[in-house]
Amino acid sequence: MGMWWIAVVAILAHTASAAVREYNWEVEYKFRWPDCVEGMVMTVNDQFPGPTINAVAGDTIVVHLTNKLATEGLVIHWHGIRQLGSPWADGAAGVTQCAINPSETFTYNFTVDKPGTHFYHGHYGMQRSAGLYGSLIVDVAEGKREPLRYDGEFTLLLSDWWHESILSQELGLSSKPMRWIGEAQSILINGRGQFNCSIASQFSNESVPSCKFKDGDQCAPQRLHVEPNKTYRIRLASTTALASLNLAVQGHKLVVVEADGNYITPFVTDDIDIYSGESYSVLLTTDQDPSQNYWISVGVRGRKPKTPPALTVLHYVTAPSFQSPSSPPPVTPQWNDFERSKNFSKRIFAAMGTPAPPRKFNKRLILLNTQNLIDGFTKWALNNVSLAVPGTPYLGSVKYNLKGGFNRKSPPKSFSMDYDIMNPPRYRNTTKGSGIYTFPFNVTVDVILQNANVLDGNGSEIHPWHLHGHDFWVLGYGDGKFKRGTDEKTYNLKNPPLRNTVSLFPYGWTALRFVTDNPGVWFFHCHIEPHLHMGMGVVFAEGLNRIGKIPDEALGCGLTKKFLNDRNKP
Ligand code: C2O
Ligand code: CU
Repeated sequence: MGMWWIAVVAILAHTASAAVREYNWEVEYKFRWPDCVEGMVMTVNDQFPGPTINAVAGDTIVVHLTNKLATEGLVIHWHGIRQLGSPWADGAAGVTQCAINPSETFTYNFTVDKPGTHFYHGHYGMQRSAGLYGSLIVDVAEGKREPLRYDGEFTLLLSDWWHESILSQELGLSSKPMRWIGEAQSILINGRGQFNCSIASQFSNESVPSCKFKDGDQCAPQRLHVEPNKTYRIRLASTTALASLNLAVQGHKLVVVEADGNYITPFVTDDIDIYSGESYSVLLTTDQDPSQNYWISVGVRGRKPKTPPALTVLHYVTAPSFQSPSSPPPVTPQWNDFERSKNFSKRIFAAMGTPAPPRKFNKRLILLNTQNLIDGFTKWALNNVSLAVPGTPYLGSVKYNLKGGFNRKSPPKSFSMDYDIMNPPRYRNTTKGSGIYTFPFNVTVDVILQNANVLDGNGSEIHPWHLHGHDFWVLGYGDGKFKRGTDEKTYNLKNPPLRNTVSLFPYGWTALRFVTDNPGVWFFHCHIEPHLHMGMGVVFAEGLNRIGKIPDEALGCGLTKKFLNDRNKP
């Protein structure tokens, strides 16, 4: 009797706390000075980065998104949100919806089912690179206890910034020969960086001028104001277009507790690697000399850095406000120390209580990551197919079973065993394709990502892979070519972390597993913006006969437009 009553109260309390959070957003270009240099920035309601969404688990988010760009379509993807039951709200142009036309409004409506540190960003063309992003923070539901203790929190959204406009970058990438975008001019912390000046110039050997900020300067760093002997949660997320980053806080240890919205087994580190598409929470205890301030430094790893680290300051309120830290900022670890990077990633394990993966897979894909050519145009490809997203969104094509929306033949499920991953490809050409991988409902899928040598010269790139609609288990990493039938034995099936983004290291492989329990069509792609833009993605369709109702507004383009018009005729 008593137990039964408690259960009812708990259910009531839970439903009472779930709220609907509704926003009206307008996206437009504005002139801004993210790194003290003027540029065209995509703003949401005049803000860059866009407004932070703060919600609690169980909430419904409604965003009325108006496209105020003069000549470009628009969508927003809610990165890390699984969109259970709302695949049409995922915000991937050409995959789950049509781009919103200029002056039109589209309404996203979805629930945030569990706590986590997430973000949102543009997912049409290279709009993420133009600054279209913001934070999406989901807290534990009221009455539920967070398994972490802290006294305050900060959010640091990390990005990289170019002075060349994205339209010009896109044109360069799709020119023959390709004009590569090059390294970023600046790294931004919450949309702020400093180009050609430094807030730590007194410690620099090169002659960089020291930054002079005027009141209200958009490029002045936001400092973190902390009290001594407290613990703070710092939520980190990276929306970079290209850069892999490493963050360190001078003199302070970081305890990593969350990855991509999932609790992990806490571990202590001096600095943290973060790849595009990833998010983390770290706990920092202010146990250092309270009369001093300390650098927070975010530097580039994985590519030869031509971009200086972004800096801001951890300001102890007990220290003189504008006193510089007494020693130089932490030095970013060697960019090409990939062993260090791998070792960091391998320290991440699921927290106790995280569901373990199924022991066996039902379906498996082995995806070879390469750079290739089509008629002299540079592309990125998987199993020698470079994805060309069609004009009719996949979700509409499969829901209404339309012929001609995309190639119904699935792309290859693996690649030839004799492919030499250690050298430039013997066959340099690739093909374009719009095919997808289709899975039944509730099967276990393994994906092995296989890295290889680049097209020209010797080298192999990092690719951070992101899956929409799911968390997946990271089963393991390895060097060289994946050995089928052997390397599976090295998998961690005990406590692999659940994530939505994982990196593929140079010349290696990464294995992940997920269950097709979310009917819909889901993008799986490299989170490096130019790689994705040049074809480095695949699409998974699952549980197709269970996809619910899709608002017509999501599909008013391509073949679905005519289909819906005909269907809705009186
Ligand atoms: Cu944050 Cu499809 O990406
Ligand atoms: Cu990539």
